[in-house]
Amino acid sequence: MITPRGSTSLVRPTSGQLFYFRPTKLTLCDGTHVTIRSITPEDESRMIDFHQALSQQSVHFRYFAMLSLGFRTRHERLAALCATDRAREIALVADQKRSDGEHEILGVARLIKTPGLDEAEFALLVTDRRQGDGLGTALLKLLVAIGRKAQVRIVGHVLPDNAAMLHVCRNLGFTLHFHPAEGEWAVELDLRPEHLTRGSQAPV
Ligand SMILES: CC(C)(COP(=O)(O)OP(=O)(O)OC[C@H]1O[C@@H](n2cnc3c(N)ncnc32)[C@H](O)[C@@H]1OP(=O)(O)O)[C@@H](O)C(=O)NCCC(=O)NCCS
Repeated sequence: MITPRGSTSLVRPTSGQLFYFRPTKLTLCDGTHVTIRSITPEDESRMIDFHQALSQQSVHFRYFAMLSLGFRTRHERLAALCATDRAREIALVADQKRSDGEHEILGVARLIKTPGLDEAEFALLVTDRRQGDGLGTALLKLLVAIGRKAQVRIVGHVLPDNAAMLHVCRNLGFTLHFHPAEGEWAVELDLRPEHLTRGSQAPV
């Protein structure tokens, strides 16, 4: 169970922004304090450390392929991923301030609008050392809150052996459909006002 600290995490959008978020504090199960905030260009070196700590299984579950560390941490790639365009995407990071004063990224959650549709695709990645501590659930709840404000259908793709991710999606009221041809689960939560159901109104 994760404890939120402080006030609501959503703020009013500025002109042209689809997704918006204000930093919020959480306490993980073991008492670790993290700040959930939007990613910034200054996070590039922290993202390199984050990627270096990932297991092969986490990389496979996230990218559906064994993307090399070199590819994942290429400057051009990370610089683009750390500079999000709020008109179409948002990326949240779970930032832990360590005792040595350095900041470490423990998890990343991303929501990207599908052009021309009221739809956004999510992706989640929590560092292996902190998986199972409730952080993935907390990050996805925040994406759901952001998606509800933006009035979009949230969709995602999950590999069949990714039991933890499927479990988190079920817990938060997502519907799941298996696609044998692709060998993956399609998960979705429709947050457009006319489609809201009890399940998609889970508290955030
Ligand atoms: C999937 C992922 C984001 C989940 O984040 P997390 O912080 O570990 O998740 P949480 O701790 O919030 O919750 C995990 C839940 O799955 C359950 N779980 C864990 N392993 C499980 C398994 N093998 N079978 C069933 N449930 C499982 C836990 O009990 C927990 O459920 P609970 O909240 O009801 O107790 C994280 O494991 C991760 O980054 N994995 C690698 C990348 C990935 O798979 N990304 C998803 C692709 S979009």
